[in-house]
Amino acid sequence: MPRLSKLSRSIKGKIALVTGAASGMGRATAHLFADEEAQVAVLDRNADGVDRVVEEITQAGGTAMGWTLDLANAAEIEPTLARIVAHFGGLDILVNNAGIDASARIQSSRYEEVWERCFSVNLTAHQRLIRASLPHLTKSGTGRIVNIASTEAVGGSAFASPYTAAKHGVMGLTRALAVELATQGVTVNCICPGAIHTGLTAAIPDKAKGIFARRRVPLKRYGDPEEVAHATLSLVLPAASYINGATLVVDGGFTIQNNGGALSR
Ligand code: NAI
Repeated sequence: MPRLSKLSRSIKGKIALVTGAASGMGRATAHLFADEEAQVAVLDRNADGVDRVVEEITQAGGTAMGWTLDLANAAEIEPTLARIVAHFGGLDILVNNAGIDASARIQSSRYEEVWERCFSVNLTAHQRLIRASLPHLTKSGTGRIVNIASTEAVGGSAFASPYTAAKHGVMGLTRALAVELATQGVTVNCICPGAIHTGLTAAIPDKAKGIFARRRVPLKRYGDPEEVAHATLSLVLPAASYINGATLVVDGGFTIQNNGGALSR
């Protein structure tokens, strides 16, 4: 029996698909995985961004290939996945990261439209990619799925109900599939990032970010996308073999702070 302390903490040679990898946390994750010598499929709807990230990774000595796809396009998910698997020869890791912000007041006339788009990208695409990936992940021996949810999966915000509901759905999908797939050699976990400097939060003025962070985040700052990427890496290691159905909150302490930070300096 091999010593369990020898379980690998390396993803060298593993094949990983990261969605939404043209920007923010997806880009940081693609870079980190490539730095760790995984082979990375960079997928995003932003074609220029895909090319840029593949170029950056290649320049840095890593292995990456890009695919441009709008994940709301259901018919293209399976064929794209098949092309990725044909190119790399398999799939070991799926990171469902692509997502969009989606706010609408419940009484808004745009509500249905915002809800539909939000669910199709932030939740439905995740299950579609998982279903397309599973035949390959189960062959891996160390199949890993990480879904990127949000602190909106453990709480709620006004005017964000489509986003909040979809992110709660991401956590539910994670938990149900962690149970369902446990005996098939695939773990399923999710990450709940807090406030992170990415494209999604780029439009929030620095002053507002500073006020929010000082009042609400014990670490008093926004996080960097690389800090989330490192958490994702920790869940996809071969050595993470008994982490299944977990929610890893990466928010600088935002969700566990009592008293709204009133007594902290
Ligand atoms: P980002 O905007 O920097 O990156 C998101 C990427 O997803 C973009 O490159 C975008 O083109 C891609 N994308 C969006 N819709 C797509 C579609 N239909 N098909 C293919 N690609 C698509 O944002 P960020 O923050 O890096 O977002 C990553 C994930 O983190 C998202 O799921 C988001 O909901 C989640 N998140 C972000 C937080 C933050 O503070 N930035 C906090 C909590 C969760």
